[in-house]
Amino acid sequence: MKIAILKERRVAEKRCAATPETVKKFIALGAEVNVETGAGIAASIPDAAFEAAGAKVVGDAAAALSGAALVLKVQRPLTAGEGAVDELGLLPKGATLVAILNPYGAKEQLAGYVAAGIDAMAMELVPRITRAQSMDVLSSQANLAGYKAVIDAAGEYNRAFPMMMTAAGTVAPARVLVMGAGVAGLQAIATARRLGAIVSATDVRPASKEQVQSLGATFVAVEDEEFKQAETAAGYAKPMSEAYQAKQAALIAETIKKQDIVITTALIPGRKAPILVTEEMVKTMKPGAVIVDLAVEQGGNCPLSELGQVVEKHGVKLVGHANVPSRLAADATALYAKNLLNFVTLLIDKETKQLKIDWEDEIVKGVALTRGGQVIHPNFQA
Ligand code: NAI
Repeated sequence: MKIAILKERRVAEKRCAATPETVKKFIALGAEVNVETGAGIAASIPDAAFEAAGAKVVGDAAAALSGAALVLKVQRPLTAGEGAVDELGLLPKGATLVAILNPYGAKEQLAGYVAAGIDAMAMELVPRITRAQSMDVLSSQANLAGYKAVIDAAGEYNRAFPMMMTAAGTVAPARVLVMGAGVAGLQAIATARRLGAIVSATDVRPASKEQVQSLGATFVAVEDEEFKQAETAAGYAKPMSEAYQAKQAALIAETIKKQDIVITTALIPGRKAPILVTEEMVKTMKPGAVIVDLAVEQGGNCPLSELGQVVEKHGVKLVGHANVPSRLAADATALYAKNLLNFVTLLIDKETKQLKIDWEDEIVKGVALTRGGQVIHPNFQA
């Protein structure tokens, strides 16, 4: 069985779907691995390291994909109109494609998988069950994004994070508010605390209160009856009512005035991100304050942030980097590649060393978008 690893071509993507470590494991499982030349360069993995691990490094995407039963990528393949290489067109018919396919944001591409006869699996849909924790790409990548958001904020902020008592006077500690205390938010809290900031955080899921407090941050939220019911069985946030959002906005408006740094991470899967920081709130912030909007790719938690840009508005810097995990490409690659290895191990028959997919497995059912020329995921059927 041949596995293909392509060089990622989408803008701002530096990650790679494999590391020398995962290549070795795939080979031990009986696979052959083709790696397109340069696939790991932006994540600090030279071709020679893949070769030393046993992969065959080939000159282009077409050569990597030739005869591949399994194609591992970070982002969904480029299509004919999107770039210099029609990656989707090069995928062998019947191949299984595993990547972060962004099925909610790029629904139209499902028809492309169907037409190409590709069995497409979207890693961001891995269910949040204990058995699948080691395959959870949202968690592995969000954790790094939360850390990097604070580092980016510190880079843009023209003051220090920790309190410093010096002979020339005292430097006040930075006040950091983290909005959305999921995986990214909790790591942002921990990182800001390590840098010496005074940290508070807000979320709509009641379970997050204790987690925030255990990291030494103050919890800020309207704790009414709706708040107590605001988590789905899958552990995600529910969309909140307008009345709740208004109450929460009033509390946040008061809190935000006092902040130096605001990190926003609030997402609702499959929907546009909720607006948490309005233009009116930005106007009340201190000159030189910094907002890092980690939800900018889903429309943003602040309407003033701009995708892929650092902009200044009303004296406040708004940081809207695209693809924040990719800004830590080496670590993000190592964790993502491990997530893929753990998932793919499920799909390989130990005896025959071929793909043997159990389509009834809860994890496979969660991620499988298309199979044998049909859309099979219940969320995406017409
Ligand atoms: P996410 O990336 O979908 O959202 C980020 C955070 O924003 C969440 O905590 C969410 O509650 C919050 N949020 C949404 N709307 C908001 C609003 N209007 N105001 C304030 N905050 C808002 O979530 P993430 O980080 O992927 O996961 C959420 C939780 O799921 C985690 O904290 C964890 O407890 C749980 N989880 C469980 C796993 C498992 O395997 N059992 C694996 C990973 C996470």
